[in-house]
Amino acid sequence: MRKWLLGGLGLLLVLCGGGAVAIAWYFVRSPLDVHVDFNRSLRIPPLAESTVDAQGARVFELRAQPGDTDLGHGSTRTWGYNGSYLGPTLRAKRGEHVNINVRNTLAEPTTVHWHGMHLPASQDGGPHHPIPAGGLFQAAWTIDQPAATLWYHPHPSERTETQVYRGLAGMFIVDDGEPAQRALPHDYGVDDIPVLVQDKKFDGDQLSMDERFGSDIGVLGDEILVNGTPAPFLDVRSELVRLRLLNASTARVYSFTLADGRPFALVGTDGGLLDKPYMTDRVRLSAGERAEIVVSLRPGERVALRSTRPLGGGLDSKFNGGQDSFDILQLRAAPALTPATLPGTLLSTPRLDPAQAAQTRSFTFQGRKINGRGMDMGRADAVVVKDTTEVWNVANGHDTPHSFHIHDVQFQVLKVDGQAPPPQLGGWKDTVFLEPHQRYTVIARFADYADPTTAYMFHCHVLRHEDNGMMGQFVVVEPGQQPRLHG
Ligand code: C2O
Ligand code: CU
Ligand code: CU
Repeated sequence: MRKWLLGGLGLLLVLCGGGAVAIAWYFVRSPLDVHVDFNRSLRIPPLAESTVDAQGARVFELRAQPGDTDLGHGSTRTWGYNGSYLGPTLRAKRGEHVNINVRNTLAEPTTVHWHGMHLPASQDGGPHHPIPAGGLFQAAWTIDQPAATLWYHPHPSERTETQVYRGLAGMFIVDDGEPAQRALPHDYGVDDIPVLVQDKKFDGDQLSMDERFGSDIGVLGDEILVNGTPAPFLDVRSELVRLRLLNASTARVYSFTLADGRPFALVGTDGGLLDKPYMTDRVRLSAGERAEIVVSLRPGERVALRSTRPLGGGLDSKFNGGQDSFDILQLRAAPALTPATLPGTLLSTPRLDPAQAAQTRSFTFQGRKINGRGMDMGRADAVVVKDTTEVWNVANGHDTPHSFHIHDVQFQVLKVDGQAPPPQLGGWKDTVFLEPHQRYTVIARFADYADPTTAYMFHCHVLRHEDNGMMGQFVVVEPGQQPRLHG
């Protein structure tokens, strides 16, 4: 009996010791460095079909639905719009009136949010506008913003991470008449390519949401899908190819680079083109952010887009995927390429002037709260007067990576920790990575739409954090109006 007890104790000690060893192993374990053999042709999401109704509005139909998809592990249960995984690319021109009918054929409520779009709060598709199982949501607005790479995704209370992870997301391209758009590669799926990047984890043939040890940002996958394609390659037939990069992952941050270190041109950010191409060898995108880049290729060559070590050193970075590296997409140039040249200038965008700001506000992201408060649908955290400009100071108060996203507007970054922003943050943005312990000053104009009864959101775009309530609300009102929100 005594012997058995001692043996039991020993076994317990060995198990605890094993636990300590496992923990130590996690601390020293090398970050992920994933290489793939690029053996599948990149899937290009189809352009959504549309009709024009009697009033001249462009009408789209979207259906959120379950399905089965080959993501490289046999048949995987997934969700998508008008298909089993992801959604078609919506495309409309500035000045067009759009009507989008969204049907929910899932067994749970969802919403659809038009990320980056300037539109009335009632059409924004946030958690205030659930589409019940079997229900229909009809969004309508007039597109009025510069050409840009936007996207759409669900935004339901507490289920956003799960729904996006299962596959609900799509690109929304806005066009305008700017000559720069036609001077850049602009043939969709040929030299103008949607690149939706997502990380996934599999358990057998099914998606897994098991968390990585120590992660403070939810699920982190160890495989990459681009437009739902594992190990993708793209055949390129012209000297320049435009990649519309969208980080449609739930949490992971990427730092995109070309495998041989060659520079590429950054031509656009979340809300539109830069004033001129900026040559760089790296662009970092946190969840929800976009970048348009133009890569120049020589005949017959192959070069891989990779993401390498997006965050700084330290344990938090390691636990949150900050030192991981992945192959993303291989570009395969044809033996003969159509000549193309990069324009020297693109646009001339006026800068918003902080001296004209009607309000300055400060928001600190810490824990799962903003300014110490969690999400409350009945509370307006900011009441903004229509057609005014505001300066917001947004700080990350601790070691966890966050990102800051605001609905309805595109902003300009005035300062990062008191300094002028780097060129990557020089254009229109709706989402910005909040590096630990840094402070970002941004400026935006809240034009056109007032509605005292409906709030817009601002929040962390790490979807787990968003689901945990790391969100606030702002209401745009006419001068003198009071908000009237119903929680
Ligand atoms: Cu991309 Cu509030 O979301
Ligand atoms: Cu949004
Ligand atoms: Cu966060």
